[in-house]
Amino acid sequence: MTKSLFLLPGDGIGPEAMAEVRKIIAHMNSAMDAGFVTDEGLVGGCAYDAHGAAISEADMAKAKAADAVLFGAVGGPKWDEVPYDVRPEAGLLRLRKDLELFANLRPAICYPALASASSLKPELVEGLDILIVRELTGGVYFGEPKTITDLGNGQKRAIDTQVYDTYEIERISAVAFELARTRSNRVCSMEKRNVMKSGVLWNQVVTETHKRTYSDVKLEHMLADAGGMQLVRAPKQFDVIVTDNLFGDMLSDVAAMLTGSLGMLPSASLGAPDAMTGKRKALYEPVHGSAPDIAGQGVANPIAMIASFAMCLRYSFNMVAEADRLEKAIANVLEAGIRTGDIMAEGCRQVGTAEMGDAILRE
Ligand code: NAI
Ligand code: MG
Repeated sequence: MTKSLFLLPGDGIGPEAMAEVRKIIAHMNSAMDAGFVTDEGLVGGCAYDAHGAAISEADMAKAKAADAVLFGAVGGPKWDEVPYDVRPEAGLLRLRKDLELFANLRPAICYPALASASSLKPELVEGLDILIVRELTGGVYFGEPKTITDLGNGQKRAIDTQVYDTYEIERISAVAFELARTRSNRVCSMEKRNVMKSGVLWNQVVTETHKRTYSDVKLEHMLADAGGMQLVRAPKQFDVIVTDNLFGDMLSDVAAMLTGSLGMLPSASLGAPDAMTGKRKALYEPVHGSAPDIAGQGVANPIAMIASFAMCLRYSFNMVAEADRLEKAIANVLEAGIRTGDIMAEGCRQVGTAEMGDAILRE
């Protein structure tokens, strides 16, 4: 069975990191008969330069048709002045919206080899393996009304609106419970039911979804502010955290810093399962941006992009053993002291993007 991948390397270090994933795909095809079929498009600033849009309609159609999209990074100073609706980030937002990618998965894994380099206490983060499941298409980032009005007396009023419907909370909590079953079987749901109506509904719907379908999973509730504190104080208490768009944005960035460098962090965004095939639309991307300060130098850390491909193997193709192997290869290479500049430590050997990719491939 062929597996179609649509590659959108984007701008800056995006294409440099994607080149290392392409090597792994080619190897899996030739040595393991993996059957990946790849196609490639433009997104972000490079798409704007070519088409005047952050992604072309033809590439959108290809992204929709593919089994999975691999996305690099977009943006850079060159496009800082382009009109708002065609700015590089608009390409990513369009993909998320049109593919209805409502579940954003952000793992925070601290590789043992990097625990001592963490700015936090090593014993706090060594062996850390948590997964934050953030609702991505609802909540206060999208709710209406969303306005700034002039009150006429020298004052203005800004309004953002938090909106959540039952089905949105049901489907994101189902994703969290299902993922927990493949891990340590624990979910912690975070909201602010003490001050927000959406928090009250969130708590109710997660509780009902749990009772109805997932009562084998251990469920805990935490107020999101307390959750933030616990994430920093004792992060290893968590397995899967499920939360809304706004809290998830912040908590996943906090969790990111437990693991070392931005260059290490993968993510996945999943849609609803197709009624006919059961397949979910999915996009995989590193958390980092296009890093204009180091772009073009061949020094970017490709691990976030490679680990995003490991998530693709796991979640889009159910290639669990292969995903495990790829993640183990990353851990082994770090253990062997091979490092890009962003995670360099005393006594280690510093390498560039391609050398890091090659080392992981060899491993
Ligand atoms: P950034 O993530 O691109 O860079 C932040 C810092 O981390 C920089 O010093 C960079 O060199 C370093 N860094 C990031 N990834 C790295 C890697 N793989 N290896 C080594 N070092 C790495 O964030 P920044 O600087 O705020 O944004 C730069 C551009 O990227 C902007 O145009 C921004 O809009 C865009 N951006 C795009 C995102 C996306 O495509 N999803 C996400 C975040 C920012
Ligand atoms: Mg963020």
